[in-house]
Amino acid sequence: MDLIQNSKLILPIRLRRNRRSSAIRKMVQETELNAADLVAPFFVIEGENKSIPIQRMPGIHRFSIDLLLKEIERLHNKGVQSFALFPAVDRDCKSLNAEEAWNPDALMQRTIRVIKESFPEVCLISDVALDPYTSHGHDGLVNDQGQIINDESIECLIKMALAQAEAGVDFVAPSDMMDGRVKAIREALDLEGFDQTGILAYSAKYASALYDPFREALQVELIGDKKTYQMDPANVREALLEARLDEQEGADILMIKPALYYLDVIARLRQETYRPIAAYHVSGEYAMVMAAHHAGYLDSKKVFYEALLSIKRAGADLIFTYAVDAVIDRL
Ligand code: PBG
Repeated sequence: MDLIQNSKLILPIRLRRNRRSSAIRKMVQETELNAADLVAPFFVIEGENKSIPIQRMPGIHRFSIDLLLKEIERLHNKGVQSFALFPAVDRDCKSLNAEEAWNPDALMQRTIRVIKESFPEVCLISDVALDPYTSHGHDGLVNDQGQIINDESIECLIKMALAQAEAGVDFVAPSDMMDGRVKAIREALDLEGFDQTGILAYSAKYASALYDPFREALQVELIGDKKTYQMDPANVREALLEARLDEQEGADILMIKPALYYLDVIARLRQETYRPIAAYHVSGEYAMVMAAHHAGYLDSKKVFYEALLSIKRAGADLIFTYAVDAVIDRL
């Protein structure tokens, strides 16, 4: 505006000159999405040669380890470097206290070992929360009054993180939202000689309605809700506080989750931390676009590209997304 007022010349300001051609548009493009920014989540199951579609996440499957390796190789060849693992655990391995979570021979730990043997160069991220392993579907232990008990849950999360670190994962990713777990896990990892294993903390994880398709993928039947530990979608200052605490407790990367409805939170955190920020473009965000695509309402590939670009523009450095395949060929 100053430019116009101070100038004696009465010229139209033509911003469209910078949009004239694809070459010019690329030259002035402010945000770029790269394959290396993306983290592809995978659901792993027992068995061989198994690929089971997830009904509410069209195009996404649960894979047995052998097929998962092929998927990782395929995406790795297209430039994807990072993968997040979630085990869909058989019902008979679930229990009240989630003991299977730290069994060294559990599906998750075996998967980590095999992937790191085959592709030592990829970055592997494992979820730390009890929900795949508890019969009630909560991320922590539940007492007789139905409360999620914080400190006892942390003891389990420590054992779980150590089992994953021992199997060779690059980052453990506590997604449980217990208070103080980042510090406890960091101390335990260091004490056991895993000082190079990183912590990607789900710092501000909201109690969102957008996780339902994920729970189908993991065969989790949640009793009740997670509102006493996951955050209220109404709050942003609290998210900044959670992120600050996780940073002080030793987190290497801070995550906001979900992504698109929380871009303001990502943008605010970008102003407050020098740490890398991750965003999780979650199952419900994926499912909505796929449903609209199949109804003929929009083009999922174009929408996903715009969505991921927006998440990056808001300030995220890396993005967990099920839409890797939808966008990878245009990066
Ligand atoms: C488990 C976990 C959840 C997600 C990632 N880790 C579900 C939940 O908290 O209930 C959701 C991811 C998605 O919806 O894609 N703690």
